Amino acid sequence: PATAQGGGTPPAGDDVIVLGEVGALTGGQATFGISSRNGIALALKEANAAGGVKGKKLVVRVYDDQSKPEEAAQAVTRLITQDKVVLILGEVASSSSLAMAEKAQAAGVPMITPSSTNPSVTEKGDNIFRVCFIDPFQGFVMAKFARENLKLNKVAVLQDNKSAYSIGLTEVFRQKFAEMGGKITVTESYSQGDTDYRAQLTAIKKTQPEGIYVPGYYSEVGVIARQARELGLKVPLMGGDGWDSEKLFELGGSAIDGSYFSNHYSPDNPDPRVTKFIADYKADYNGAVPDALAALAYDAARVAIEALKNAPDTSGPALRAAIAKTKDFPGVAGNITLDEKRNAVKSAVVLKVADGKSTYVTTISP
Ligand code: PHE
Repeated sequence: PATAQGGGTPPAGDDVIVLGEVGALTGGQATFGISSRNGIALALKEANAAGGVKGKKLVVRVYDDQSKPEEAAQAVTRLITQDKVVLILGEVASSSSLAMAEKAQAAGVPMITPSSTNPSVTEKGDNIFRVCFIDPFQGFVMAKFARENLKLNKVAVLQDNKSAYSIGLTEVFRQKFAEMGGKITVTESYSQGDTDYRAQLTAIKKTQPEGIYVPGYYSEVGVIARQARELGLKVPLMGGDGWDSEKLFELGGSAIDGSYFSNHYSPDNPDPRVTKFIADYKADYNGAVPDALAALAYDAARVAIEALKNAPDTSGPALRAAIAKTKDFPGVAGNITLDEKRNAVKSAVVLKVADGKSTYVTTISP
């Protein structure tokens, strides 16, 4: 079962407002959950230092879903029935957010996912929100970059068939790339947790692509990059936000050099709002540079806090209405305006991977 993390049960009572959080603190996507938890904790710390909300302190009850959608769904049920949270933050992986959204919507408890990009997540109902862009846009971004910047004509795709995120992004990328006059040579699949991708990569190599789109998570992508190079596939790999982790470099080594991925935010952004966030985050987390997950989770928590301030009370309907009104909210990963489908419309950045880090290349707007 999902285990509670981060300081045990918060003191119940009239002097606190309890938020819920579900994340992958262990398992194949652990860096996602840890970064998100850090971002949320920073936002809460700042809000509490500024007096809290409605005279109360904010606390968060965190559950580790071990990177599993079933555990994420169970954690939501616990947060609602046992911990009586007013609002839920999470998940990162779209498959987990989809499982959570079902439960949160049924209970009428608002949920904000910081970073799940699959369109179906917010389609689960009017209690489900996100502060990031969606994959129809993200897929367009990399298709455009591949065609216009990298000038690629023939691209192969390698998707994770266990991930709603990867399947959705594959579909959009294939469609957009073809619309822009490019050719998809082949689409191969793997399952999250696999360790040997040689058969798929060999099939891909036969089609002589000029690039390979791999919209998966860092834990698999790093290994895929190594095996691709071992098989003599030297063309650039391209991916989406799921690549964003320090661990990508550890797993991929120099094999990942010369690859590109789309993302929500770049720490290279000189905006003072961003540089202040980075400095505060580093101070709290041993000098770690916040990734997109940390930035989006910080933003999601701040949107939640703003809604808690604006709502007349902390009931589900009141909070839901207040979140839905979010407009021009100054996030560190871009300004947030929620559309009628409860999604944020924002630009994306493209980052290049080389020498153990990713660097900003360009921004693409909707
Ligand atoms: N967008 C991914 C998903 O929906 C999650 C993700 C976001 C991963 C940002 C890394 C960075 O599954």
